[in-house]
Amino acid sequence: MLIFAIESSHDDTSFALLENNKALWMKTITQIEIHKQYGGTVPEIASRLHVKNIGILIRDLLKEIDITKIDLIAYTKEPGLIGSLHVGHMVANAIALQLKKPILPLNHLQGHFYSAFIEREVEYPALGLLVSGGHSQLMLYKTKDEYEIIGETQDDAVGEVYDKIARKFELGFPGGPLIDKIWQQNCNIYIDTFTIPQTQNEFNFSFSGLKTHVINLYNNKINRKEKINIKEYATKFQNTIVQYLKNHMQKAIEIYKPKCIALVGGVSANFAIREMMLTLHDKVYLPELKYSTDNAMMIARLAYEKTRK
Ligand code: KG4
Ligand code: ZN
Repeated sequence: MLIFAIESSHDDTSFALLENNKALWMKTITQIEIHKQYGGTVPEIASRLHVKNIGILIRDLLKEIDITKIDLIAYTKEPGLIGSLHVGHMVANAIALQLKKPILPLNHLQGHFYSAFIEREVEYPALGLLVSGGHSQLMLYKTKDEYEIIGETQDDAVGEVYDKIARKFELGFPGGPLIDKIWQQNCNIYIDTFTIPQTQNEFNFSFSGLKTHVINLYNNKINRKEKINIKEYATKFQNTIVQYLKNHMQKAIEIYKPKCIALVGGVSANFAIREMMLTLHDKVYLPELKYSTDNAMMIARLAYEKTRK
């Protein structure tokens, strides 16, 4: 079964082909350099660039692939920026109509979960920690068809908080990799955390209190015209995030006893979070870096799991 997938939910336009869980071909065009100038994604610009970039990908697809061999077309239906999603939806439908093949609309967040299982098998029950610029969730897959979100953020997503704090510290965008780099150089010096956030449901997350706390510390220093130790704040901030995620994961592993765990989403590139996850279970799956950010291969992998016998 040859699956063709399209991802266009945010600022990446991506096409991929997967055959029986073998990744055959993928092309992704990212818009990050454009949105960087604005300090975040501008939805109107994102949809316009998708229209342009998807045209380039269609030309490459037709040049490099015999599309008559495609058996199924999958695409990201939700969640995401509506204008961006529409572009993928229209093109997926046009290709399905032309090839007279079935079409499968899919959920982007479930796609992220399967990014850790490209060319690998899931052992159910499986527990996934999704951390990205837009989402933070604990996902429990009891079987391939029984899926439950056992916890999610009540306010900001992890990546969003990284980006906002990095912007306050004038480090640049996206902030995650920049703070992570500072952490790697300073984690032996600053080993403590800020106060670990609390939430009512033990598996939900809340990051906005931590964000406000760090930003207030920074503002107070500015107001008092005192020197700010960005390295200390950034390192302690990351220590806090890692400890908070670790507490949630440990509790969930204890209760749900998964056969494997996965760390997915753009923030899964984080050095300290990856290291922490590896200590929690003997079967830990991390996506390859090219599959940790938004991409169509994870959507194809989800389609494969949903349609296999
Ligand atoms: O999943 P993703 O590519 O995009 C969306 O959510 O749309 O995630 C991007 C997020 C950004 O917030 C970025 O700062 C964060 O992932 N990120 C990181 C790291 N690399 C990327 N956060 C922490 N540490 C990193 N090494
Ligand atoms: Zn995503």
